[in-house]
Amino acid sequence: MKNMSPWWIRIPVVFFLIFGLMEYFIDSGEKPAFLEYPITQFFLLMVLLILVAIELILKSIENIMFQTLSEEAQERYLEAKSKGWEWKWGKKMYLKLLGSKPIEAEGEIILDHNYDGIKELDNKLPPWWLYLFYATVIFGAVYLVRFHIIGDYDQELEYEMEVAAAQLAIEEYKKTAKDLVDASTVELLTDASDLNAGKVIFETNCAVCHMVDGGGGIGPNLTDEYWILGGGIKNVFNTISEGGRAGKGMVPWKQSLKPSEIAQVGSYVLTFQGTTPANPKASEGEIWVDENAGTEDNAPEETAPEQETDSTSVAMN
Ligand code: HEC
Repeated sequence: MKNMSPWWIRIPVVFFLIFGLMEYFIDSGEKPAFLEYPITQFFLLMVLLILVAIELILKSIENIMFQTLSEEAQERYLEAKSKGWEWKWGKKMYLKLLGSKPIEAEGEIILDHNYDGIKELDNKLPPWWLYLFYATVIFGAVYLVRFHIIGDYDQELEYEMEVAAAQLAIEEYKKTAKDLVDASTVELLTDASDLNAGKVIFETNCAVCHMVDGGGGIGPNLTDEYWILGGGIKNVFNTISEGGRAGKGMVPWKQSLKPSEIAQVGSYVLTFQGTTPANPKASEGEIWVDENAGTEDNAPEETAPEQETDSTSVAMN
């Protein structure tokens, strides 16, 4: 067992190897697996205990075998062991990359001139530096061919590609972040869970003025096709979020409801369409027709974000 790495290297190396493999194979989303699933902490603890146990067993086997040796052999063994451990490969590699001659061998590379007692050694360039230099030469050549001869892509295209990728990422993010909806992006929700949540919100906050069945009271009838402030999920979202006309009693709800909740209650309100409430209030407003029926974009004017012209794109010619 001579020249084996010591236990304080073996145990951490194996441990972190297993740790790394575990993180690689367990899909735990954003968080590392050992935080996401506490059971893995137990697993890692077991791994550590087993590693220590193996070390202890090896140690005792070594001990027992040592006892069976003859006295002379024991001495030789101890001597071999006392030489200690060194990382031979690492040391050799280090010396090779340094490429310097040991001081005793300087005679071989000394140049035979002598300036007032100053002599010069003809050292080779250190290999680590030389390889790095070659690498930059290769990089430069590939770069030249790729961008100046073939013209793979230029800065403008690179910028556009990155913006496109970022836009995709934003879309992806918006799908998971429900509270990012606003009047211009909201879509009618049809999931039973969303509608049920909307119902609860409606009955606690809105039924006082609009009645539980949407028939209307202080607030207008929500079951007919007449709308004062515009129908459709986008207008309804906007009304709930920003409130009705001043002094009418419909306050902006954006302070007390989250955007996702406004979308839920708005979608619920639209399920009243065509139902017959117990005490319908007379219709107010106008019949609302979805002008953009079939297209995505029927947002109210003032909330539709302008497609901004890109101030960062510069004419490159
Ligand atoms: C204090 C009474 C009151 C409460 C509470 C109230 N509303 Fe209203 N609501 C009104 C009034 C009044 C109007 C008419 C506003 C106008 O004419 O500008 C209105 C208008 C609306 C409209 C537009 C109707 C149309 O014809 O354009 C919608 C949609 C609406 N409310 C939904 C809700 C929702 C959802 C809630 C609960 C989060 C709610 N309201 C809570 C009084 C209320």
